[in-house]
Amino acid sequence: MHKKKYKLKKKNFCIFMILFLLVFVFILYKPCSSIFSLMGKDYSFSESYRIYRSGLTDRVLEREYSKTIANVVGSNEYVDENFDYYYSIDFYERDDFFALVNELIDIGYTGADINAINKNYNEVLVSYLSNHYVENISKWLEYDFFKPDKIQRYLDDFDGSYKDTIVRVNIGLDQPYYENVTVVSEYSTDMIINKYHQLDENYVPDNLTLLDHCSQGEHYLSLEAKEAYDKLCQASIEAGLDLSVNSSYRSYQDQEEVYNTYYELYGQNYVDNYVAVSGYSEHHTGLALDVKSLNSNIFANSEEYQWMKENSYKYGFILRYPDDKKDITGCNGEAWHYRYVGLEIAKYIYENDITFDEYYAMFLDK
Ligand code: DAL
Ligand code: ZN
Repeated sequence: MHKKKYKLKKKNFCIFMILFLLVFVFILYKPCSSIFSLMGKDYSFSESYRIYRSGLTDRVLEREYSKTIANVVGSNEYVDENFDYYYSIDFYERDDFFALVNELIDIGYTGADINAINKNYNEVLVSYLSNHYVENISKWLEYDFFKPDKIQRYLDDFDGSYKDTIVRVNIGLDQPYYENVTVVSEYSTDMIINKYHQLDENYVPDNLTLLDHCSQGEHYLSLEAKEAYDKLCQASIEAGLDLSVNSSYRSYQDQEEVYNTYYELYGQNYVDNYVAVSGYSEHHTGLALDVKSLNSNIFANSEEYQWMKENSYKYGFILRYPDDKKDITGCNGEAWHYRYVGLEIAKYIYENDITFDEYYAMFLDK
Protein backbone atom coordinates (compact mmCIF):
# COMPACT_ATOMS: atom_id res chain seq x y z
CA MET A 1 0.00 0.00 0.00
CA HIS A 2 2.76 2.33 1.01
CA LYS A 3 4.70 1.41 -2.03
CA LYS A 4 1.79 2.28 -4.34
CA LYS A 5 1.41 5.74 -2.81
CA TYR A 6 5.07 6.36 -3.19
CA LYS A 7 4.92 5.34 -6.88
CA LEU A 8 2.04 7.77 -7.51
CA LYS A 9 3.91 10.57 -5.85
CA LYS A 10 6.92 9.83 -7.97
CA LYS A 11 4.84 9.84 -11.14
CA ASN A 12 3.25 13.18 -10.29
CA PHE A 13 6.62 14.63 -9.60
CA CYS A 14 7.88 13.46 -12.97
CA ILE A 15 4.90 14.94 -14.77
CA PHE A 16 5.42 18.18 -12.92
CA MET A 17 9.08 18.24 -13.84
CA ILE A 18 8.37 17.54 -17.50
CA LEU A 19 5.75 20.29 -17.58
CA PHE A 20 8.12 22.60 -15.81
CA LEU A 21 10.86 21.83 -18.30
CA LEU A 22 8.52 22.29 -21.23
CA VAL A 23 7.47 25.71 -19.96
CA PHE A 24 11.08 26.55 -19.28
CA VAL A 25 12.13 25.50 -22.78
CA PHE A 26 9.16 27.32 -24.28
CA ILE A 27 10.11 30.56 -22.54
CA LEU A 28 13.80 30.30 -23.25
CA TYR A 29 13.65 28.82 -26.71
CA LYS A 30 13.18 32.12 -28.57
CA PRO A 31 15.90 34.17 -26.83
CA CYS A 32 18.33 31.28 -26.85
CA SER A 33 17.90 30.50 -30.49
CA SER A 34 18.06 34.23 -31.42
CA ILE A 35 21.18 34.80 -29.41
CA PHE A 36 22.84 31.65 -30.76
CA SER A 37 21.99 32.65 -34.31
CA LEU A 38 23.32 36.17 -33.77
CA MET A 39 26.47 34.81 -32.19
CA GLY A 40 26.81 32.61 -35.25
CA LYS A 41 27.04 35.86 -37.20
CA ASP A 42 29.92 37.02 -35.00
CA TYR A 43 27.96 39.26 -32.66
CA SER A 44 29.19 38.90 -29.10
CA PHE A 45 26.87 37.57 -26.42
CA SER A 46 26.07 41.01 -25.03
CA GLU A 47 25.59 42.50 -28.52
CA SER A 48 23.33 39.60 -29.44
CA TYR A 49 21.33 40.06 -26.28
CA ARG A 50 20.83 43.76 -26.99
CA ILE A 51 19.80 43.06 -30.57
CA TYR A 52 17.36 40.43 -29.37
CA ARG A 53 15.94 42.78 -26.74
CA SER A 54 15.45 45.45 -29.42
CA GLY A 55 13.31 43.11 -31.48
CA LEU A 56 15.59 43.38 -34.47
CA THR A 57 16.91 39.83 -34.59
CA ASP A 58 15.25 38.83 -37.84
CA ARG A 59 16.33 41.98 -39.69
CA VAL A 60 19.86 41.69 -38.37
CA LEU A 61 20.06 38.01 -39.25
CA GLU A 62 19.18 38.78 -42.85
CA ARG A 63 22.48 40.66 -43.25
CA GLU A 64 26.15 40.23 -42.64
CA TYR A 65 27.86 41.27 -39.41
CA SER A 66 28.15 45.04 -38.91
CA LYS A 67 30.18 46.60 -36.14
CA THR A 68 28.09 49.72 -36.50
CA ILE A 69 24.88 47.75 -35.97
CA ALA A 70 26.50 45.91 -33.07
CA ASN A 71 27.13 49.22 -31.36
CA VAL A 72 24.05 51.21 -32.22
CA VAL A 73 21.21 48.73 -31.74
CA GLY A 74 19.92 49.00 -28.23
CA SER A 75 21.66 52.32 -27.60
CA ASN A 76 19.90 55.64 -27.04
CA GLU A 77 21.18 56.83 -30.39
CA TYR A 78 19.52 54.10 -32.45
CA VAL A 79 17.13 55.55 -35.04
CA ASP A 80 15.02 52.93 -36.75
CA GLU A 81 14.72 54.82 -40.06
CA ASN A 82 18.50 54.77 -40.33
CA PHE A 83 18.73 50.97 -39.92
CA ASP A 84 19.72 50.28 -43.53
CA TYR A 85 22.01 53.30 -43.58
CA TYR A 86 24.02 52.03 -40.61
CA TYR A 87 25.15 49.08 -42.70
CA SER A 88 27.02 51.38 -45.07
CA ILE A 89 28.78 53.22 -42.27
CA ASP A 90 32.12 52.21 -40.78
CA PHE A 91 32.23 52.30 -37.01
CA TYR A 92 34.58 54.68 -35.19
CA GLU A 93 35.14 54.61 -31.45
CA ARG A 94 34.09 58.14 -30.49
CA ASP A 95 31.59 59.36 -27.91
CA ASP A 96 29.64 61.52 -30.32
CA PHE A 97 29.87 59.02 -33.18
CA PHE A 98 26.20 58.03 -33.55
CA ALA A 99 24.87 61.48 -32.74
CA LEU A 100 26.99 62.81 -35.61
CA VAL A 101 26.07 59.96 -37.95
CA ASN A 102 22.36 60.55 -37.37
CA GLU A 103 22.80 64.27 -37.89
CA LEU A 104 24.73 63.76 -41.14
CA ILE A 105 22.13 61.29 -42.42
CA ASP A 106 19.43 63.88 -41.70
CA ILE A 107 21.34 66.51 -43.67
CA GLY A 108 21.50 64.18 -46.66
CA TYR A 109 25.06 62.82 -46.69
CA THR A 110 25.58 59.38 -48.23
CA GLY A 111 27.22 56.47 -46.44
CA ALA A 112 30.42 57.08 -48.44
CA ASP A 113 30.36 60.75 -47.44
CA ILE A 114 29.85 59.90 -43.78
CA ASN A 115 32.70 57.39 -43.85
CA ALA A 116 35.00 59.97 -45.39
CA ILE A 117 33.97 62.56 -42.83
CA ASN A 118 34.63 60.18 -39.94
CA LYS A 119 37.94 59.09 -41.40
CA ASN A 120 39.03 62.72 -41.66
CA TYR A 121 37.25 63.75 -38.46
CA ASN A 122 38.10 67.27 -37.49
CA GLU A 123 36.07 69.74 -35.45
CA VAL A 124 36.27 72.52 -38.00
CA LEU A 125 35.18 70.18 -40.78
CA VAL A 126 32.34 68.64 -38.83
CA SER A 127 31.05 71.96 -37.62
CA TYR A 128 30.99 73.24 -41.21
CA LEU A 129 29.35 70.13 -42.62
CA SER A 130 26.71 70.04 -39.90
CA ASN A 131 25.59 73.46 -41.02
CA HIS A 132 26.00 73.20 -44.80
CA TYR A 133 25.33 70.36 -47.18
CA VAL A 134 28.44 69.90 -49.33
CA GLU A 135 27.86 67.78 -52.40
CA ASN A 136 30.45 65.05 -52.99
CA ILE A 137 32.31 65.78 -49.79
CA SER A 138 33.96 62.35 -50.02
CA LYS A 139 35.62 63.42 -53.29
CA TRP A 140 37.11 66.48 -51.62
CA LEU A 141 38.31 64.41 -48.71
CA GLU A 142 40.24 62.02 -50.92
CA TYR A 143 43.15 64.43 -50.80
CA ASP A 144 45.43 64.52 -47.76
CA PHE A 145 46.13 68.15 -48.44
CA PHE A 146 42.47 69.15 -48.09
CA LYS A 147 42.41 71.75 -45.31
CA PRO A 148 39.11 72.01 -43.42
CA ASP A 149 39.56 75.68 -42.62
CA LYS A 150 39.68 76.43 -46.37
CA ILE A 151 36.51 74.53 -47.30
CA GLN A 152 34.46 77.60 -48.18
CA ARG A 153 37.25 78.88 -50.41
CA TYR A 154 37.46 75.51 -52.19
CA LEU A 155 33.73 75.60 -52.85
CA ASP A 156 33.83 79.19 -54.07
CA ASP A 157 36.74 78.45 -56.39
CA PHE A 158 35.69 75.00 -57.64
CA ASP A 159 36.56 74.48 -61.31
CA GLY A 160 35.42 70.87 -61.76
CA SER A 161 38.66 69.31 -60.50
CA TYR A 162 38.74 68.63 -56.78
CA LYS A 163 42.49 68.20 -56.68
CA ASP A 164 43.38 71.26 -58.75
CA THR A 165 41.00 73.43 -56.78
CA ILE A 166 42.46 72.32 -53.45
CA VAL A 167 46.01 72.87 -54.65
CA ARG A 168 45.20 76.27 -56.14
CA VAL A 169 43.49 77.50 -52.98
CA ASN A 170 46.24 76.04 -50.77
CA ILE A 171 48.78 78.04 -52.76
CA GLY A 172 46.58 81.11 -52.25
CA LEU A 173 45.75 81.72 -55.90
CA ASP A 174 42.09 82.45 -55.19
CA GLN A 175 43.25 85.61 -53.41
CA PRO A 176 45.22 88.63 -54.61
CA TYR A 177 49.03 88.50 -54.52
CA TYR A 178 50.73 89.91 -51.43
CA GLU A 179 47.62 89.51 -49.25
CA ASN A 180 47.32 86.98 -46.42
CA VAL A 181 51.05 86.58 -46.55
CA THR A 182 53.00 84.15 -44.36
CA VAL A 183 56.32 85.43 -43.07
CA VAL A 184 59.02 82.78 -43.40
CA SER A 185 61.89 83.09 -40.97
CA GLU A 186 63.66 79.74 -40.93
CA TYR A 187 66.08 78.49 -43.50
CA SER A 188 65.50 75.08 -45.02
CA THR A 189 66.17 73.75 -48.49
CA ASP A 190 62.44 73.25 -48.96
CA MET A 191 61.36 76.71 -47.78
CA ILE A 192 59.02 78.52 -50.12
CA ILE A 193 59.06 82.13 -51.17
CA ASN A 194 56.39 83.28 -53.59
CA LYS A 195 53.61 85.86 -53.81
CA TYR A 196 52.14 84.51 -50.55
CA HIS A 197 55.32 83.80 -48.56
CA GLN A 198 57.79 86.50 -47.74
CA LEU A 199 61.10 86.88 -45.96
CA ASP A 200 61.76 89.49 -43.36
CA GLU A 201 63.85 92.49 -44.45
CA ASN A 202 66.72 91.42 -42.17
CA TYR A 203 66.78 87.77 -43.19
CA VAL A 204 70.22 86.51 -44.23
CA PRO A 205 70.94 82.79 -44.62
CA ASP A 206 73.82 81.97 -42.28
CA ASN A 207 75.61 79.53 -44.54
CA LEU A 208 76.25 81.65 -47.64
CA THR A 209 79.19 80.30 -49.60
CA LEU A 210 81.05 81.79 -52.55
CA LEU A 211 80.54 79.97 -55.85
CA ASP A 212 83.90 78.89 -57.28
CA HIS A 213 82.88 76.63 -60.17
CA CYS A 214 80.93 77.57 -63.31
CA SER A 215 80.77 81.11 -62.00
CA GLN A 216 82.66 84.35 -62.46
CA GLY A 217 82.60 87.24 -60.04
CA GLU A 218 81.13 87.21 -56.54
CA HIS A 219 78.07 85.00 -56.31
CA TYR A 220 76.87 83.26 -53.17
CA LEU A 221 74.52 80.39 -52.44
CA SER A 222 73.71 78.53 -49.24
CA LEU A 223 76.24 75.78 -48.59
CA GLU A 224 73.94 72.90 -49.68
CA ALA A 225 72.97 74.67 -52.88
CA LYS A 226 76.59 75.58 -53.61
CA GLU A 227 77.79 71.99 -53.18
CA ALA A 228 74.98 70.76 -55.44
CA TYR A 229 75.84 73.42 -58.01
CA ASP A 230 79.48 72.24 -57.98
CA LYS A 231 78.32 68.75 -58.96
CA LEU A 232 75.96 70.12 -61.58
CA CYS A 233 78.79 72.26 -62.93
CA GLN A 234 81.13 69.26 -63.19
CA ALA A 235 78.48 67.25 -65.09
CA SER A 236 77.78 70.18 -67.42
CA ILE A 237 81.50 70.48 -68.26
CA GLU A 238 81.61 66.75 -69.00
CA ALA A 239 78.66 67.33 -71.33
CA GLY A 240 80.76 69.95 -73.14
CA LEU A 241 78.79 72.97 -71.90
CA ASP A 242 79.76 76.43 -70.65
CA LEU A 243 77.51 77.44 -67.80
CA SER A 244 77.98 80.48 -65.64
CA VAL A 245 76.03 82.59 -63.17
CA ASN A 246 74.32 85.93 -63.61
CA SER A 247 72.91 86.27 -60.13
CA SER A 248 72.42 84.14 -57.03
CA TYR A 249 71.88 85.29 -53.43
CA ARG A 250 70.42 88.79 -53.23
CA SER A 251 69.73 90.62 -49.99
CA TYR A 252 66.51 92.56 -49.45
CA GLN A 253 68.34 95.74 -50.47
CA ASP A 254 69.92 94.09 -53.55
CA GLN A 255 66.46 92.99 -54.64
CA GLU A 256 65.12 96.51 -54.17
CA GLU A 257 67.87 97.79 -56.43
CA VAL A 258 67.15 95.15 -59.07
CA TYR A 259 63.44 95.97 -58.91
CA ASN A 260 63.99 99.73 -59.19
CA THR A 261 66.49 99.37 -62.01
CA TYR A 262 64.14 97.24 -64.12
CA TYR A 263 61.22 99.44 -63.21
CA GLU A 264 63.11 102.51 -64.51
CA LEU A 265 64.16 100.66 -67.65
CA TYR A 266 60.99 98.75 -68.59
CA GLY A 267 58.14 99.92 -66.38
CA GLN A 268 55.58 98.42 -64.03
CA ASN A 269 54.26 95.67 -66.28
CA TYR A 270 57.74 94.26 -66.77
CA VAL A 271 58.62 94.16 -63.08
CA ASP A 272 55.22 92.72 -62.19
CA ASN A 273 55.97 89.77 -64.43
CA TYR A 274 59.72 89.29 -64.06
CA VAL A 275 61.02 90.82 -60.85
CA ALA A 276 59.88 89.95 -57.37
CA VAL A 277 59.05 92.67 -54.87
CA SER A 278 61.73 92.82 -52.17
CA GLY A 279 61.07 90.18 -49.53
CA TYR A 280 59.29 87.99 -52.09
CA SER A 281 62.33 86.92 -54.10
CA GLU A 282 63.74 83.43 -53.95
CA HIS A 283 67.16 84.97 -54.52
CA HIS A 284 66.88 86.21 -50.93
CA THR A 285 66.88 82.60 -49.67
CA GLY A 286 70.34 81.76 -51.00
CA LEU A 287 68.79 78.80 -52.81
CA ALA A 288 68.13 80.31 -56.25
CA LEU A 289 70.40 81.27 -59.08
CA ASP A 290 70.16 82.71 -62.57
CA VAL A 291 72.48 80.88 -64.91
CA LYS A 292 73.77 81.92 -68.28
CA SER A 293 75.49 80.32 -71.25
CA LEU A 294 78.94 81.53 -72.20
CA ASN A 295 78.09 80.49 -75.79
CA SER A 296 74.79 82.26 -76.32
CA ASN A 297 73.24 85.56 -75.25
CA ILE A 298 69.75 84.17 -75.21
CA PHE A 299 69.75 81.42 -72.64
CA ALA A 300 66.45 79.91 -73.81
CA ASN A 301 68.09 79.21 -77.20
CA SER A 302 71.24 77.67 -75.77
CA GLU A 303 72.33 74.06 -75.40
CA GLU A 304 72.98 74.86 -71.77
CA TYR A 305 69.26 75.53 -71.32
CA GLN A 306 68.28 72.26 -72.98
CA TRP A 307 70.69 70.45 -70.70
CA MET A 308 69.61 72.28 -67.52
CA LYS A 309 65.95 71.64 -68.26
CA GLU A 310 66.51 67.89 -68.47
CA ASN A 311 69.33 67.35 -66.00
CA SER A 312 69.33 69.92 -63.22
CA TYR A 313 66.92 67.83 -61.11
CA LYS A 314 69.63 65.15 -60.82
CA TYR A 315 71.54 67.64 -58.68
CA GLY A 316 68.53 68.89 -56.72
CA PHE A 317 67.63 71.94 -58.84
CA ILE A 318 64.36 72.76 -60.59
CA LEU A 319 63.36 75.16 -63.32
CA ARG A 320 61.33 77.36 -61.01
CA TYR A 321 59.30 79.43 -63.47
CA PRO A 322 58.39 77.31 -66.52
CA ASP A 323 56.80 79.15 -69.44
CA ASP A 324 53.51 77.30 -69.18
CA LYS A 325 53.00 77.69 -65.42
CA LYS A 326 52.61 81.40 -65.09
CA ASP A 327 49.08 81.08 -63.73
CA ILE A 328 50.54 79.09 -60.83
CA THR A 329 53.89 80.73 -60.15
CA GLY A 330 52.71 84.25 -60.88
CA CYS A 331 55.94 84.83 -62.81
CA ASN A 332 56.62 84.81 -66.53
CA GLY A 333 58.74 81.93 -67.78
CA GLU A 334 62.39 82.33 -66.80
CA ALA A 335 64.58 79.77 -68.57
CA TRP A 336 67.57 80.92 -66.49
CA HIS A 337 66.19 80.76 -62.94
CA TYR A 338 66.85 77.53 -61.00
CA ARG A 339 66.03 76.73 -57.43
CA TYR A 340 67.73 74.22 -55.18
CA VAL A 341 65.15 72.05 -53.37
CA GLY A 342 67.14 68.86 -52.79
CA LEU A 343 67.26 65.64 -54.79
CA GLU A 344 63.98 64.04 -53.75
CA ILE A 345 61.76 67.06 -54.30
CA ALA A 346 63.50 68.04 -57.53
CA LYS A 347 62.98 64.55 -58.94
CA TYR A 348 59.30 64.53 -58.03
CA ILE A 349 58.71 67.97 -59.52
CA TYR A 350 60.56 67.05 -62.72
CA GLU A 351 58.82 63.70 -63.15
CA ASN A 352 55.37 65.05 -62.42
CA ASP A 353 55.79 68.29 -64.34
CA ILE A 354 54.55 70.45 -61.52
CA THR A 355 55.82 73.63 -59.87
CA PHE A 356 57.37 73.98 -56.45
CA ASP A 357 54.28 75.98 -55.41
CA GLU A 358 52.10 72.95 -56.12
CA TYR A 359 54.51 70.57 -54.44
CA TYR A 360 54.57 72.77 -51.37
CA ALA A 361 50.77 73.06 -51.29
CA MET A 362 50.43 69.28 -51.46
CA PHE A 363 53.22 67.97 -49.31
CA LEU A 364 54.96 70.61 -47.24
CA ASP A 365 52.38 73.10 -46.06
CA LYS A 366 51.34 71.73 -42.69
N1 DAL B 1 63.04 86.98 -61.15
C1 DAL B 1 62.58 86.42 -59.95
C2 DAL B 1 61.08 86.28 -59.97
C3 DAL B 1 62.99 87.22 -58.75
O1 DAL B 1 63.15 88.42 -58.90
O2 DAL B 1 63.13 86.67 -57.70
ZN1 ZN C 1 66.23 84.61 -60.78
